[in-house]
Amino acid sequence: MLKISELYSGYGKMRVIQGVSLELSKGEILAILGPNGAGKTTLLNSVFGIATIHSGDIYLDGTKITGKKPSEIVKLGVSYSPQLDNVFPNLTVEENLYVGAFIRGRDPKIKEDIENIFELFPEIKRRRHQKAKTLSGGERQMLAVARALMTNPKVLLLDEPTAGLSPKAGITLMRKVREIKETMNIAVLVVEQNVARALEVADKASVLVGGRILREGSAEEFRHIEIEKLFFGK
Ligand SMILES: Nc1ncnc2c1ncn2[C@@H]1O[C@H](COP(=O)(O)OP(=O)(O)OP(=O)(O)O)[C@@H](O)[C@H]1O
Ligand SMILES: [Mg+2]
Repeated sequence: MLKISELYSGYGKMRVIQGVSLELSKGEILAILGPNGAGKTTLLNSVFGIATIHSGDIYLDGTKITGKKPSEIVKLGVSYSPQLDNVFPNLTVEENLYVGAFIRGRDPKIKEDIENIFELFPEIKRRRHQKAKTLSGGERQMLAVARALMTNPKVLLLDEPTAGLSPKAGITLMRKVREIKETMNIAVLVVEQNVARALEVADKASVLVGGRILREGSAEEFRHIEIEKLFFGK
């Protein structure tokens, strides 16, 4: 589904990602773990055409998307819920979902899809006419994920979807992500700061440190390793 091969990328001449390769299949959740500044966001930005690619390639279903613009990448089936500014605060919940579906033009199915999304997230359905800025942190993060789903993606990129949430709201959201990937049969690349929470729902994980993959494996095998060991290899 998504394949990253020997990727070197960053911002302008600055290099952040130093030779990352990974593969994500349909119906899989891959958690990207790692300390602050490791390059997790930059990796997602690279897939989405926002960072500067120095070398290497990114493929979606065998099609090379390296160097394409975000607008083209969305059309090919990748959706991104960024770490910051992931909803429009002055638009209502429902308007945010319509904006999320913008690339689909006048697709008559948008309305129906919004109702389906509301079934998945009843918490925000109740708030559909409320401005996004009035939502709680948890509701806002749900809206961010819901908005990203409105493009009907094959691959969903989520950057710290549980940031700032209580442990309970965080796990609820992550379980919801798992439910979504199962019902919609999509692949999810999720950056998570909370390792335990990520490993509970992920199928596999890659630890990114200093722009390199330090280790990768099934979520199951990482569950028993302490974070210090996981991130710093000691
Ligand atoms: N737009 C940018 N322009 C220049 N440098 C950037 C930019 N964004 C990030 N960087 C730098 O790239 C490096 C990696 O940042 P990145 O945001 O990818 O880390 P991260 O793993 O997502 O960290 P965090 O866990 O804090 O979100 C950092 O040294 C950062 O200062
Ligand atoms: Mg980040």
